[in-house]
Amino acid sequence: MAKVMLEVKDLTTKYITRFRENVYAVDHVSLKVEEGKSLGIAGESGCGKSTLALSLMGYYFPPLHYTSGDIIIDGTNISTMKPDEIRKKILGQEIAYIPQAAMNALNPTRKIINLIEDVIQAHDPKAKKKEIYDLAVERFEVLGLPAEVLQKYPVELSGGMKQRTVIAISVILSPKILIADEPSSALDVTSQKMVIKMLLDLMEHGFIKSMIFITHELPLLYNVTDDIMVMYAGQIVEKGTAAQTVFDPLHPYAKGLMGSIIVPERGLRDVKLTAIPGVPPNLKNPPHGCRFAERCRYVVPECKVHPIEMLHIADNRHYRCIFSEEYLRKAYQND
Ligand SMILES: Nc1ncnc2c1ncn2[C@@H]1O[C@H](COP(=O)(O)OP(=O)(O)OP(=O)(O)O)[C@@H](O)[C@H]1O
Ligand SMILES: [Mg+2]
Repeated sequence: MAKVMLEVKDLTTKYITRFRENVYAVDHVSLKVEEGKSLGIAGESGCGKSTLALSLMGYYFPPLHYTSGDIIIDGTNISTMKPDEIRKKILGQEIAYIPQAAMNALNPTRKIINLIEDVIQAHDPKAKKKEIYDLAVERFEVLGLPAEVLQKYPVELSGGMKQRTVIAISVILSPKILIADEPSSALDVTSQKMVIKMLLDLMEHGFIKSMIFITHELPLLYNVTDDIMVMYAGQIVEKGTAAQTVFDPLHPYAKGLMGSIIVPERGLRDVKLTAIPGVPPNLKNPPHGCRFAERCRYVVPECKVHPIEMLHIADNRHYRCIFSEEYLRKAYQND
């Protein structure tokens, strides 16, 4: 059995707004990522992907609050740790996060090598500059980044190069898990491909032990990740292998997400270009039954009566819908 790098059990976290309203952006989420594996998370804007990423790192600052559940990184439960302990022992070393706006987050007044020194010395104040430099050169070379970049300022780098540099800095401490949040959506297609190749190289070289890749575009995950989860309105609605979720989605939302691609990937060109009508529910007051019911073309009155449980249908395969897989497959065939 492969070692489990990250296990999340029934995690719920919420934003408390200025008006004291609770917004449950991560609602009873469970997941597992094994060593050497990558998990993709897909879903429309506002479904809770970035909130889940922050929550997984124990990164709780108001208005985001932990409510319940466990986050276990390589056997250590971090959900009970204090923020200070998380900052010192977990962030960067155990779990690293590349935020959505990472390209603009580099301090413009410092050279890349100085930014790397900052990261390493924050964890090991005795680390020598020469050792850091040697490590940085070695890392950059393996990842196909020219060593000259180390002497540059962030403004001197192109978008694609800046994004790859951010990734290289984020993983300089060889974390067990890397969470990459929409690492490619602001880039042109060539740069996107280079970023994705780099993420896969990181795994191959053992610089990271597992990865979570977050995107709007479900099909993009097919070539990058082993497993895929689809989120809707704070909940997971489908979980399975990449091939299952992309080519045989069961939940009507996952099915819709497959059909609403703006830039189809190679091999997926016959996919229909239709968006899912409607908008996700307001998480301040989500519907009692299925959260997707208002937008679902297969909805029946029963969908709105009770909260819908996740169905476990095979080894690694789950979905959240009242209909059987046979019923759904047939419905999709007849569409
Ligand atoms: N500071 C906040 N206070 C209250 N609610 C918030 C706050 N930040 C986010 N939310 C709500 O939490 C939900 C999830 O937001 P989140 O940013 O995690 O979505 P996302 O899936 O990452 O979206 P995107 O694809 O646009 O990045 C949204 O409904 C949003 O309105
Ligand atoms: Mg986000």
